[in-house]
Amino acid sequence: MSLSVIILAAGMGTRMRSAVPKVLHELAGRSLLGHALTAAEALTPDKVCVVYGHGGDQLRAAFSDRADIHWREQMPQLGTGHAVMQARDSLAGGGSVLILYGDVPLIRPQTLAPLLQDAAAGALALLTAELDNPMGYGRIVRNGSGEVVAIVEEKDADAEIKKIREINTGIMAMPAAALDGWLSRIDNKNAQAEYYLTDIIGLAVADGVTIRSRKVAKIHEVKGINTRRQLAELERIVQRESAEYWMDQGVTLGDPARFDIRGEVRIGRDVFIDVDVILEGKVEIGDNVRIGPFCHIKDCRIGDGVEIHSHCHLEGAQIDAGCSVGPFARLRPDTVMHAGVRVGNFVEVKKSVIGAHSKANHLSYIGDAEVGRDVNIGAGTITCNYDGANKHKTVIEDGAFIGSDTQLVAPVRVGKDATVGAGSTITKDTPAGGLTLSRVKQQHVAGWKRPQKKKDKGQP
Ligand code: UD1
Ligand code: CA
Repeated sequence: MSLSVIILAAGMGTRMRSAVPKVLHELAGRSLLGHALTAAEALTPDKVCVVYGHGGDQLRAAFSDRADIHWREQMPQLGTGHAVMQARDSLAGGGSVLILYGDVPLIRPQTLAPLLQDAAAGALALLTAELDNPMGYGRIVRNGSGEVVAIVEEKDADAEIKKIREINTGIMAMPAAALDGWLSRIDNKNAQAEYYLTDIIGLAVADGVTIRSRKVAKIHEVKGINTRRQLAELERIVQRESAEYWMDQGVTLGDPARFDIRGEVRIGRDVFIDVDVILEGKVEIGDNVRIGPFCHIKDCRIGDGVEIHSHCHLEGAQIDAGCSVGPFARLRPDTVMHAGVRVGNFVEVKKSVIGAHSKANHLSYIGDAEVGRDVNIGAGTITCNYDGANKHKTVIEDGAFIGSDTQLVAPVRVGKDATVGAGSTITKDTPAGGLTLSRVKQQHVAGWKRPQKKKDKGQP
């Protein structure tokens, strides 16, 4: 049975007070629409259509890698029924249709799958929820036998209907051909002068189509976002759930309330992650890793037994087994640290490969470099990789020892087992072994006196 998913996302989103379309605001590092799309994709649809209102250019740009999405503009926005009408061409192929909302990010494929089964069997399937405070929502109206006969919007409801606590989540599925027929028959004769998608319920009843309803267990799955406060609330729920998931997988968290994942992660066993750590993008963490407090780690691969000390900012780095990083280290994209490397405080590494068991323990900048094994890079060493126009490479061969406060003016190569004296400015390749240094000769001026401060005689 073929499946089309129509995601409604044309609402104004006024209450976000934002220049960015509401569905592009992010939850756990992914846009609201991105979440809805991910849920849709898990159901392997044949076609995905997004109905948008404002910010079409921004939306397309945000999903520029997704040529498969069919974008349909709804202008002006005359209600949910009118929104679906804009995607009516998706219904031509028959099969089933699933309606999702672009601002309802946490819906799970497991919750949607039964609705698709109902629709495939020819029914109109509704996802409903039981709320303590149903105000504002469309109410599910049932007859004496408990069958759904209508959905009545808050603004059209009388006092009796307003008492109903079962609400329409807006998520529904049905045979495409039936929906196509119903869309021709809905009008806007209601309190809001909108074309209500919910009017198809009455039409289905009239046509003798079975209506199946399923109640969602977790309310947050169907919560829509209208304000930044609601966004923050859902963010906490998502983060709490992912923290609990990882604890169940064998990760110890300093505080589950102070651990945020904004992307996709893989974490091994017996990992300890201290408070206020953010994992972003694609992060892989091996076994027995320790991550100190206040670290921001983005798109990194961290091997077994690595220790990341507090306050590190790591992006796009590969850190092999047994490395030690920080505190206060910055690793920038294309950094590769082979096994057992130590990068200490106030060290920045960019686009460099550092061979096994090499060390740069303090205050260094290593950029565009190839560092061999067992190299010791002294405090304050800087690779001068940029001449103002181009970047150049520094090569430090195995076993070299770079004295403190050395500048390596690239392109330059330090030979195997070479020693560079502290305070050197190295502008030419150094031979293997031996000592290379560039240093101004030390002088001594005996009996030299420091300048004295002039006495103030009260004159200008
Ligand atoms: C709708 C339902 C209501 C349900 C509620 C759940 C109708 C008539 N009402 O209410 O029964 O309880 O959702 O939240 O269907 N949208 C468009 N174009 C429009 C109008 C809305 O794309 O012209 C989109 C919005 O972006 C949003 C969704 O549809 O994603 C729901 O719109 P919203 O205004 O939040 O809900 P209501 O229409 O009030
Ligand atoms: Ca509305």
